[in-house]
Amino acid sequence: MARRQPDPSDSPKGSFLPFRHRHLLGIAQLNQQEIIDLLDRAEAMIPISRQRKTLPNLAGKTQINLFFENSTRTQASFEIAGKRLGATVMNMAVRTSSVAKGETLVDTAATLNAMQPDAIVVRHGSSGAVELLSQKVECAVLNAGDGAHEHPTQALLDALTIRRHKGRLNGLTVAICGDIANSRVARSNLILLGAMRARTRVIAPKSLLPRGVDQMASEVFTDMRKGLEGADVVMMLRLQNERASGKLIPSVREYYKFYGLDAEKLSHANADALVMHPGPMNRGVEIDPAIADGPQSVITQQVEMGVAVRMAVLDALLNKDADDA
Ligand code: CP
Repeated sequence: MARRQPDPSDSPKGSFLPFRHRHLLGIAQLNQQEIIDLLDRAEAMIPISRQRKTLPNLAGKTQINLFFENSTRTQASFEIAGKRLGATVMNMAVRTSSVAKGETLVDTAATLNAMQPDAIVVRHGSSGAVELLSQKVECAVLNAGDGAHEHPTQALLDALTIRRHKGRLNGLTVAICGDIANSRVARSNLILLGAMRARTRVIAPKSLLPRGVDQMASEVFTDMRKGLEGADVVMMLRLQNERASGKLIPSVREYYKFYGLDAEKLSHANADALVMHPGPMNRGVEIDPAIADGPQSVITQQVEMGVAVRMAVLDALLNKDADDA
């Protein structure tokens, strides 16, 4: 997709706001200006990441990645981001750690805290587990996804990808389609897009819509074609079978027929609509492979923006002296 120039109000600036938070637990803790500031910081990291440069910003700092749930994109990009900023990065192998012997989350947190890390990046299957861990340690904690609660860096990288293509977030119509009920990605995106004054739509069968969804999105649709009408961005979500979503639909074949993004359904969105997916994708379940790999897809660009966004948030949280200078 061709890129438009960013709107001046959203464009990168030379200096950034001091980041006033100790942790990044969710988008809900950020106001509009802080979101724009993190996107600007990430924009500034893109050329550094593309040139595979290493900055000295986090030299002497230690980052621990603690993933209790599987990850490809988030864990790898947090590791690359930390290393591109000069940090020492340690990936905890949770499956072979003492967690497997029954050690609790709180004891694991206390143990890691005793090793004096500067940041712990945590993914956990339970909503609220990352916040609990943040109360037990002295370092910065970054939420890499907790249950169906939040995935803040995913929403930031999605916003950065959209802003780079559309030049703005304000006033865009963004349709989020699929397993809304179990999706931390949907939740973080809805909070962020709402704060940025985008028009948000969710599209799903009733069984995959959470209670109170009309408070989370501008509009709610169960008919995908109607929901995609006039959309600038189509964000597809994976069926979260590890959270039993498969039991909430009659069959995968039927789900694909009504909610799988194919060329015919995509034709109801604007002709220049972006197609997004946080990954991992289930091709042929929520998206036609031809659309996932097609000209409107920005899915691999989302992955690239993940490194820049994670560099930005690590720098904002751990390099506060630079903000004060
Ligand atoms: N989008 C995302 O969180 O992907 P991973 O599960 O691979 O980290």
